[in-house]
Amino acid sequence: MTQLTFLSPAGAIVAVVQAAPGQSVMRAALDANVPGIEAECGGCLTCATCHVYLDADNAAKVPAPTAEEDDMLGYVAAERRPGSRLSCQLVADAGLDALVVQLPERQVP
Ligand code: FES
Repeated sequence: MTQLTFLSPAGAIVAVVQAAPGQSVMRAALDANVPGIEAECGGCLTCATCHVYLDADNAAKVPAPTAEEDDMLGYVAAERRPGSRLSCQLVADAGLDALVVQLPERQVP
């Protein structure tokens, strides 16, 4: 299991959730009713409403964005930062023990 810690835009802990291997950060957030993840497309990489921020340490724990994810990151509603990711593309696996993600100010314009 991967421990996911969700931070508010201000940096406070909102939720700590366990994700099973193969489960996306987006799905784990929705299943646990973590506020702040919309995921309108259900993980098809067509909505950009599952935006999160990773700091440098956490970004180094996961594969870099694909070209498709990078394209969709151009449509996020909140500020795009170097650590911006789409949480439907961040997947828990056995080699990932913990990940901290910060929620953006908003997911829709
Ligand atoms: S849920 Fe739509 S892009 Fe991630």
